[in-house]
Amino acid sequence: MRKVLLTGDRPSGQLHLGHYVGSLKNRIALQNSGEYDCFVLIADVQALTDNFNDPQKVRDNVFEVALDYLACGLDPARTTIAIQSLMPVLAELTVYYLNLVTLARLERNPTVKTEIGQKGFGASIPAGFLCYPVSQAADITFCKAHVVPVGVDQLPMIEQTREIVRSFNAIYGEVLVEPEALIPDNKQSQRLPGITGNDTKMSKSLGNGIYLADDADTLRAKIRQMYTDPGHLRVSDPGRIEGNTVFTYLDVFGTDTAHITELKEQYQRGGLGDVKVKEYLFEVLEAELGPIRARRLEFAQDPAAVYEMLRAGTDAANEVAAATLREVRAAMKIDYFG
Ligand code: TRP
Repeated sequence: MRKVLLTGDRPSGQLHLGHYVGSLKNRIALQNSGEYDCFVLIADVQALTDNFNDPQKVRDNVFEVALDYLACGLDPARTTIAIQSLMPVLAELTVYYLNLVTLARLERNPTVKTEIGQKGFGASIPAGFLCYPVSQAADITFCKAHVVPVGVDQLPMIEQTREIVRSFNAIYGEVLVEPEALIPDNKQSQRLPGITGNDTKMSKSLGNGIYLADDADTLRAKIRQMYTDPGHLRVSDPGRIEGNTVFTYLDVFGTDTAHITELKEQYQRGGLGDVKVKEYLFEVLEAELGPIRARRLEFAQDPAAVYEMLRAGTDAANEVAAATLREVRAAMKIDYFG
């Protein structure tokens, strides 16, 4: 039997280059390896836990994320892409799993803790938000996923899921599968800086992102604004490559390492201007993003086909979920009518 792989995204905006190098690229490689039964969830229920007052935004972002997936090469023939809110089994599993976690444990989850601070909930933390790791455990277990490719910030979610699974299996019998996180090898890709500099991670809320949907002019303009070395004033001045975002990006996205090494040496010696390095970075990024953008535009022209793909994926995921739920209900002795 092939291993099952599941991952997901909260549709809180279009996907940016941080998502792309940190997870999408890796996911597509895993899909193409043919080693796994792949599922990807667009986690709109999770997005609603902190955007419940802006449902239109969440709805729009589900479509944007679907476009990003298709444009990058997630292939509905090989990966089942499903919408979380259209899978009622997930809500049901969440309710059963809530008995297996304590409030204190939820409050200790480091990722949730950080987010609560960032969102400024103060003492008024929505219960749904605090509990989203439990709903994420339902996401991961409905298909008995063995592996969950995620970034390091998601490790606490996987740990919490593993605890729920162990607890469920100990009480009700061995039904669920304890998942493992799969962290991409390329550590550097885990924390792509935003265009404003290396001490800021690319994120929508910081407004420092480059998006897969950005057109070529926007890409060029964002690269022009990129943080380099503030001490590098004249072309002839020696420049620093440490903490220089343009070089960080070249290390992540460039393939011609000999040429990049040469550029770095020249920059450090003096005699290489930011404009030139930035123009090269534009070429490198455009070579990778141009085809993705073109495919994105094509899919965007046919929303009905995109929604049809999502409907078919959700149907398939619901069938898998129904089978797991039958086992869960039997184990919990709530299968009253068989
Ligand atoms: N919490 C994840 C994020 O914020 C999104 C997510 C939802 C997810 N369900 C999942 C990730 C299941 C992995 C598995 O990015």
